[in-house]
Amino acid sequence: MTRIVVLPGDGIGPEVTREAVQCLELISSHCDLGFTFEEHDFGGAAIDGQGTPLPDSTLAACRDAGAILLGAVGGPQWDKSSERPEAGLLKLRSALGLFANLRPARVIPGLESFSPLRADVAEGSDVLVVRELTGGLYFGEKRLGADEASDLCVYSRAEVERIAHVAFSAARHRQKRVTSVDKANVLATSKLWRTVVVEVAAEYPDITLDHMYVDAAAMALVTTPRRFDVILTENLFGDILSDELSVIGGSIGLLGSASIGAEGPGMFEPIHGSAPDIAGLDIANPAGALTSAAMMLEHLGHSDLAGMLHHAIRLVLLDGCRTADLQGNARCSEFGTRVRSILKDRLARHDAHLELMAMNRGCCG
Ligand code: NAD
Ligand code: IPM
Ligand code: MN
Repeated sequence: MTRIVVLPGDGIGPEVTREAVQCLELISSHCDLGFTFEEHDFGGAAIDGQGTPLPDSTLAACRDAGAILLGAVGGPQWDKSSERPEAGLLKLRSALGLFANLRPARVIPGLESFSPLRADVAEGSDVLVVRELTGGLYFGEKRLGADEASDLCVYSRAEVERIAHVAFSAARHRQKRVTSVDKANVLATSKLWRTVVVEVAAEYPDITLDHMYVDAAAMALVTTPRRFDVILTENLFGDILSDELSVIGGSIGLLGSASIGAEGPGMFEPIHGSAPDIAGLDIANPAGALTSAAMMLEHLGHSDLAGMLHHAIRLVLLDGCRTADLQGNARCSEFGTRVRSILKDRLARHDAHLELMAMNRGCCG
């Protein structure tokens, strides 16, 4: 049995998460994976219900989970609350030690027209952002006065080492290129970052490493996205660059992510936010949440099923089922239904294939 804790959160979070859970339920029941799902309060919804964005009961459930599926948190109604929904997300990432955030972003073959870039620039773009998730400016000491404010940016050698290992290991399964993105011409943390990344690189002689300043990287992403394979970067730069990268493939609604620690459950979340401007209209793109569910399957060791889900998402898009962010008029729920219908078909064919193999073994063996 694998306990999956579901944190739908706010805005479009519940809408897109519902589709992801239904896909996972379908796969689990068909393949006897034994997934169970429990929803918990999180974000603005938890502020309203329990006065805090990360209730103790939610944190305890997450610690005990086999995996966590998150929608999104935040919204203008909580912008002035003493603790914002986003603070709950940061606490959760930190409490679970989820220091590595993997955000794959590619231009889907056959869907180059989604990109605002020229097709010849966009085509073949396939980048994995490895974003450090529990350090840097997000977690340094903060001071907010009436006339002065500061955020402290701190990185330790150990924090840089462990995220660098994640990036170099991931590159081994890809094009074997890592671009470390920093601001080492200005920032002390970036200077340490660069030194440590070079040291870790020595353990991966098969991987090519280069460095870019973040401003130049932001430019190169839209001029020559194919020059990148794995981008290794710190928390804030990774946040910004991954949103930029997402639109190269057409929409922020397409991207999923995995947040992983040294031990304990992983958390799987689309990279987009709660999109208050379209919440409740059933027009959000659930592909990012579905992709996050596929990444969860992969992480739990079900690579073949993860591949099946990724493929189903692509087929539905290729078939012209597109939400408003991709200039279509499909509903969020309709997209999910279409994905599940492909999954049902594939899973049935998979069963038939297995039966045939068993019959062949029976008569030949
Ligand atoms: P956002 O990602 O919510 O929205 C940016 C734009 O992208 C909006 O126009 C929105 O409609 C569109 N968009 C986002 N996801 C979409 C989807 N799946 N389908 C179609 N369109 C989509 O960013 P924002 O507006 O800056 O933030 C809104 C709230 O979400 C804020 O409170 C912010 O802090 C929070 N936020 C949460 C997370 C998270 O929970 N992981 C991530 C980012 C932002
Ligand atoms: C994300 C979000 C979060 C971040 C916010 C909501 C704290 O933008 O997951 O990308 O900055 O990490
Ligand atoms: Mn973000």
